Amino acid sequence: MKHRKKLTVALLFGGRSAEHEVSLSSAAAVYRNIDKNKYRVISLFISKEGKWKRVATPLLPPAKLAAGTSGSFLPWSTEPPPASGKPDLLPAHFKADIYFPVLHGPYGEDGTIQGLFEMADVPYVGAGVLASAAGMDKAVAKALFTMNRLPVVKYATLVETDWKKHRAAVLALIEREFSLPFFIKPANLGSSVGISKVKERAETIRAIRRAFRYDRKILVEQGVQGREIECSVLGNDRPKASLPGEVIPHRDFYDYRDKYIEGKTQFRIPADLPEATVNEVKRLAVEAYRAVDCAGMARIDFFLEEGTGKLYVNEINTIPGFTEISMYPKLWQASGISFPSLIEKLIRLGFERHRRKKRCLERRGE
Ligand SMILES: Nc1ncnc2c1ncn2[C@@H]1O[C@H](COP(=O)(O)OP(=O)(O)O)[C@@H](O)[C@H]1O
Ligand SMILES: [Mg+2]
Repeated sequence: MKHRKKLTVALLFGGRSAEHEVSLSSAAAVYRNIDKNKYRVISLFISKEGKWKRVATPLLPPAKLAAGTSGSFLPWSTEPPPASGKPDLLPAHFKADIYFPVLHGPYGEDGTIQGLFEMADVPYVGAGVLASAAGMDKAVAKALFTMNRLPVVKYATLVETDWKKHRAAVLALIEREFSLPFFIKPANLGSSVGISKVKERAETIRAIRRAFRYDRKILVEQGVQGREIECSVLGNDRPKASLPGEVIPHRDFYDYRDKYIEGKTQFRIPADLPEATVNEVKRLAVEAYRAVDCAGMARIDFFLEEGTGKLYVNEINTIPGFTEISMYPKLWQASGISFPSLIEKLIRLGFERHRRKKRCLERRGE
């Protein structure tokens, strides 16, 4: 039997965001679960400072990964172009058939690295530039959800210069429009950094200042009392939703300590929900995915309000946690797709998207 040539998949992990460590765990899980009979893996580590290095595997201890990283990374390498054919856009030791960013948060999940892949004209796994950037910015994502008639909590967006200029008016608006408790969060961060649950009016200013430490744009959001439901979506233009899962925070809300330090959060996979709610979560998850024009994968997070049973779309994560115990792969497992076949599907979707785009560009003569 003829063996097909193995495809080379480059895993990119680590990265400059607060979720650097989570990314290391996610990449290790992808590395362990990728079908090595089909794929050759190259591992590209990005340090917290944004320096790059090719390493043996993501399974190395963090100190080993970070040792001797290269200061500059230019995808349009300084290598001379080959005598024939197109110039090489990537340095030889970074070359792969497809790139898989397993990077969470800013500089990984926000369209920046996706832009690099587009410039280098290489296939990659997951959402494109637009969906990544829109999904990362909670204010933009909410605006797109609202335009597509998806249920979102009442919210307001505030940029720092307006806060400084119109403090009294802003505080009056918050007082008038939002009842306690409400949430104040930076627009562009994940992992609950800079988020406050405001339970007394006197805490408002402190919460606003805290959020502005991390971003020039913040959101005020009406608090929802209820359950936190999450749903995995997979696909390009025909996305499918998994069974929903539930996160049961150990603390007052699902904050940074609960997510990454104390680890006492409980997960219910799948969530214990009536069939009608399951179907509604799945429908809304696919709609939210389409609203930001997502591709590849995303996890959509919801609130299910106590008493009313109303669902609200909270956020979309275009590179969700990817460890063996993370919600995204676990929900697919519960829905009949194993971790290795999930990785394979994502790789196929990445190639499909690239091919489709190339065909359109060719027709346009670009
Ligand atoms: N409007 C809200 N109502 C109730 N809880 C909220 C609200 N916004 C955030 N939270 C709580 O804070 C956590 C983190 O907020 P989230 O918007 O998901 O940001 P992140 O991108 O950091 O995950 C949520 O999982 C939830 O526990
Ligand atoms: Mg969240």
